[in-house]
Amino acid sequence: MIQYFKNIQLKEAIFCFILLCFFSACEEEREMNEGEGRIVQNFNADWNFQLGEHPEAKNDTIDLADWRKLDVPHDWSIEGEFSEEHPTKPEGGALPAGIGWYRKTFEVPESWNNRNVFISFDGVYRNSEIWINGKYLGKRPFGYISFQYELTPYLKFGESNAIAVKVDNSAQPNSRWYTGSGIYRNVHLVAKSNVHIDHWGTSVSTPFVSKDSAKVSFKVTIKNNLDSLKKIQLKNVVVDQSGKTIASEEVNLQLSATDSINVGQNFTISNPKLWSTESPYLYSIETSIYQDRKLLDNVKTPLGIRKFHFDSEKGFFLNGKHTKIKGVCLHHDNGALGAAINVYALERKLKLLKKMGTNAIRMAHNPPSPEMLELSDKMGFIVQDEAFDVWKKGKIKEDYQTIWDKWYEKDLKAMLYRDRNHPSVMMWSIGNEIREQFDSTGVHITKELVAIVKSVDTTRPVTSALTENIPEKNFVWQSGALDLLGFNYKHEAYEDLPNRFPNQKFISSESVSGLMTRGSYDMPSGERRNWPPAHGEDFDGNDDYTVSAYDQVSAYWGSTHEETWKTVKKLDHMAGMFVWTGFDYLGEPIPYPYPARSSYFGMIDLAGFPKDVYYMYQSEWTYKDVLHIFPHWNWKKGETIDVWAYYNNADEVELFLNGRSLGIKSKIGDDLHVAWSVEYEPGNLKAISRKDGEVVLEKTIETAEEPAQIELKPDKNEMKSDKNDLVFVTVNILDKAGVLAPKANNLVKFEVSGGGKIVGVDNGYQASLESFKAKQRKAFNGKCLVIIQSNGKKELVKLTARSEGLNSTSINIQIKD
Ligand code: GAL
Repeated sequence: MIQYFKNIQLKEAIFCFILLCFFSACEEEREMNEGEGRIVQNFNADWNFQLGEHPEAKNDTIDLADWRKLDVPHDWSIEGEFSEEHPTKPEGGALPAGIGWYRKTFEVPESWNNRNVFISFDGVYRNSEIWINGKYLGKRPFGYISFQYELTPYLKFGESNAIAVKVDNSAQPNSRWYTGSGIYRNVHLVAKSNVHIDHWGTSVSTPFVSKDSAKVSFKVTIKNNLDSLKKIQLKNVVVDQSGKTIASEEVNLQLSATDSINVGQNFTISNPKLWSTESPYLYSIETSIYQDRKLLDNVKTPLGIRKFHFDSEKGFFLNGKHTKIKGVCLHHDNGALGAAINVYALERKLKLLKKMGTNAIRMAHNPPSPEMLELSDKMGFIVQDEAFDVWKKGKIKEDYQTIWDKWYEKDLKAMLYRDRNHPSVMMWSIGNEIREQFDSTGVHITKELVAIVKSVDTTRPVTSALTENIPEKNFVWQSGALDLLGFNYKHEAYEDLPNRFPNQKFISSESVSGLMTRGSYDMPSGERRNWPPAHGEDFDGNDDYTVSAYDQVSAYWGSTHEETWKTVKKLDHMAGMFVWTGFDYLGEPIPYPYPARSSYFGMIDLAGFPKDVYYMYQSEWTYKDVLHIFPHWNWKKGETIDVWAYYNNADEVELFLNGRSLGIKSKIGDDLHVAWSVEYEPGNLKAISRKDGEVVLEKTIETAEEPAQIELKPDKNEMKSDKNDLVFVTVNILDKAGVLAPKANNLVKFEVSGGGKIVGVDNGYQASLESFKAKQRKAFNGKCLVIIQSNGKKELVKLTARSEGLNSTSINIQIKD
């Protein structure tokens, strides 16, 4: 069945006829001639860049001799030196911001002169202003949003053109937390026929889903930019993951001059393969429009067939199956790569989270890159997509409140239109810890924002991450407009939420904020501590800016990891939780003052090395066998050391020191770990987990001798020569027997030859002031990281690591096409 919808706004302006032609399923497929269709060009290469004010970049007379040549995505902040004096402050990563200009010249083929040409930016941080051939296109203040401009009227076809982009991130602080600066996401040039599918012009939903069949509702907006009537054919093809057509619809349409129409088509899919977090099966819908059989335009829309709902008593259901949301909040930076988007870096992050058992991500607190959502679709994450961290009332001086009135509707709609087809997206969040919770203005703003969301998409619940859990005091809640109540922290109150907010649906939108430094154990376990609110206070008596990696310290508003998970696990009405955070992120180094400059909240450090608590989640959130013991085994003789083990799929764990049993322990009640108090002696500490008397796993940690050698462990052995692919190489400092030296801090120098270059180094230490862009890094607690990117040469990459007093080592990385 085919439905037609008229675009209501345009209807007011122009009257047009739509002629309908129905094609039954049995009708013979007609041959469509190949036309060129939509041309989408990656526009990332060969920009010129200069820091500072350079308005002359708009003009052809500019002398670019001393401008830097680079490819975007680019983040100039991450290239800078750390300083407490930078206006970003440690909360923003203590890296420089300021103003920068980009300019790029490019040819547009003569053959495009009857096309509509657009430039699309996935994200520019921030206040981008853009000129094409000296003509001003506009300003987009919000740094996290995707946008496009039409270039057609200003282009010189068959000639050289120049685009200039001013980026102004100088007003600080303007976002919580590190933002990066520059054209930090992808840029594309899009050339469409002047009769084309609109920008973000398709929408798909699955109103009925069962094992046997699914209904797919699809809508497309088509624009006729010509001043004459056009007869076209529209064809939509549903394709499965192997490329096989499983359904298709065609229709003839007539578009009035300069008109736009919305066309709907429904499909029924028999025996659909459902999208789930374990098996994220993706179909796609290929939309093409033709004129006289010549392809005018075409786009592909992802289609995940799934159904989900939140229940006030039972939580969350995906495809009818009760599913606890085991989520993490992620901030957008990629550690040593800064904000600059790279799909391989995102993939590495998501793989680590998947391995831990994470099934959901909250994009905190702003719209992510499109690639992040594409990967979430492909890898099977449930996403909470979030628009804002503030509304009209700010938290910091220069944040979104300064542009709220003019931009909130446009920016919110841009997020909704861009992201509405991702099957992974299952919640729209209109804001995080919004100040308007606390006064009556919250009521009408919430109503208005929810109405905007519903005007674009009614298939997903609208939520907001709230802090105030007393109904009378929370004006966002009092709007009555939210479908799902997200509560941040205060896990002690979760049990009582159904009494306070009868018949509502709940999720812990943010929780824990546990503080840890990977590999540091500078405080005995068992001492549960909240970080005291006084800023800068060193809570563990050390001045080395590390926090014990035992799960015992958290922000005073948070909890340990174990505390919140135990609560959420047992309460059915809590749909799940999003832990703050999956990874450490740049900025917000509380409670430590500078030189601390990145956060301590991650389950994984900034370099991508799991902290011990990663394995607590893995033991709870996956079905695979887990046994993890810590800390390391290098202490002073006679010291008493608490040894913890996370395990699952077993009844007990037995610990042995140098072959001597230290006893068998089992988790009791809702325990999530077992622990022994051990008098230290050097040697080896072995744990064995057993189920019904059978060994499940064995783990041994050994006392390391002096550092003697370097080990390089790449996350893959080959990379593409596309100047984009990355290999993340873990650098371990080992003793001569190959045991990790757990306190090693040797400076490691890297050399790379052939088809690769070094694009980042890190060691996960939150207070290191070494540059992320150097060719050397000190190890921290025995480890550091070097990131190699292909440079376009098809030559074997050789990476060598040297360090004074240690045996150097090399690895090869193959380059493939
Ligand atoms: C929350 C806030 C986050 C982060 C976190 C740290 O209140 O939403 O952005 O600041 O605290 O614990």
